[in-house]
Amino acid sequence: MVKLFESATFRGVELKNRIVVSPMGMYSAENGYVTPFHLDHYGKFAMGGAGLVFVEQTSVTRKGRITNGDPGLWEDGQIDGMHRIVQAIQSQGSRAAIQINHGGRKSGQQRAFRGNGPLTDRDIEMGEESWTPTGPSDVAFSDGFAVPTPLSKDGLAGIRDAFVAAARRALLAGFDVIELHMAHGYLLQSFLSPLANFRSDEYGGSLENRMRFPLEVTRAVRAAIPDSTPLFVRISAVDWIDGGWEIEDSVVFSRKLKELGVDLVDCSTGGNLRAGSTNANLSRGPGYQVPFADQIRREAGIATGAVGMIRTPDFAEQILRQGKADLVFLARQMLFNPFWARHAAEHFGLTGNFQDWPEQYGWWLAKWGGALRASGESLMEWQHYSDAAE
Ligand SMILES: Cc1cc2nc3c(=O)[nH]c(=O)nc-3n(C[C@H](O)[C@H](O)[C@H](O)COP(=O)(O)O)c2cc1C
Repeated sequence: MVKLFESATFRGVELKNRIVVSPMGMYSAENGYVTPFHLDHYGKFAMGGAGLVFVEQTSVTRKGRITNGDPGLWEDGQIDGMHRIVQAIQSQGSRAAIQINHGGRKSGQQRAFRGNGPLTDRDIEMGEESWTPTGPSDVAFSDGFAVPTPLSKDGLAGIRDAFVAAARRALLAGFDVIELHMAHGYLLQSFLSPLANFRSDEYGGSLENRMRFPLEVTRAVRAAIPDSTPLFVRISAVDWIDGGWEIEDSVVFSRKLKELGVDLVDCSTGGNLRAGSTNANLSRGPGYQVPFADQIRREAGIATGAVGMIRTPDFAEQILRQGKADLVFLARQMLFNPFWARHAAEHFGLTGNFQDWPEQYGWWLAKWGGALRASGESLMEWQHYSDAAE
């Protein structure tokens, strides 16, 4: 039995396999509303056979957007476009997940493909809206970035409520799984890390205090969604900076998340400061974050997702088989090959006749594949690389 293609069930929501399209911001929404681009983009991953397809980080408030191009769920009008994406995903037998987020001190930046830095005068001339972000403390993310306004207790309560309202809208849109974004230096992670949170009230200082706001949000969202809806949390398992958030903190935090009814911890890293930036980490070696998923799974006793430079089916299978994670999340490899899951099934000899493909494609592929096989060739000689860590 190939573990990658075993189903996985969270609170009664069954994923047909353990392959997840990781959340990826496309920075292409208009005024927080998704566009036809998003429908094409997400629909093709479901055609490609992943068990769970994540819709990108989606903002719970207008000013919580990382960029002007982020989608939102801060008003009811945004539900309909998301519903169409959910339908496109579910119609192919995949489950639909959404990551909800507040950008905190990293809000109001350039779209990633326009520089990923602070907005420039030229960006503003081109129509980008600029605003002062909010965060735990009045310390900017990096040089040149806006100094955030520290959130008051009322401000925190407002954002907690915005997470709840966005989660409710996500349910109305039909999403099967909700994930809270507590990674990459955005608001909730910036409360956790001592490198971003310098508060002296009960939301800063000790680990217990720094965890308080993210846990309040978790508790409120869990209470607002049905028992049958799985709740995932993405964390940055480490800051990659001395004196920052460490894996031991992640284990403690994950235990608390589990107590509050979180179903899976999705283990990313970094992003809190430029020095530990997410982009720098994207070029670390194959499976560079897998050890964190493994440790949290063992020590906190909660299901985990492994992410980061997982490219080949054999490597993904090995992670699951060795019990290091329950699901594998793939991002860039899915951009490169949205049909990764179908190809992986072929690789393991599971769909010899393309019967699992959308029938509109599969019947032709079966004919063509059969003809090639008869002449000793294979339709897909696609695995030209291997992962060093295997
Ligand atoms: C274009 C792009 C956009 C991303 N946007 C998000 C996002 O919205 N939320 C998030 O948690 N991670 C985001 N990430 C990180 C990915 O989900 C993933 O953790 C990372 O790319 C490592 O996985 P990979 O090596 O398979 O690409 C993004 C990555 C890429 C390449």
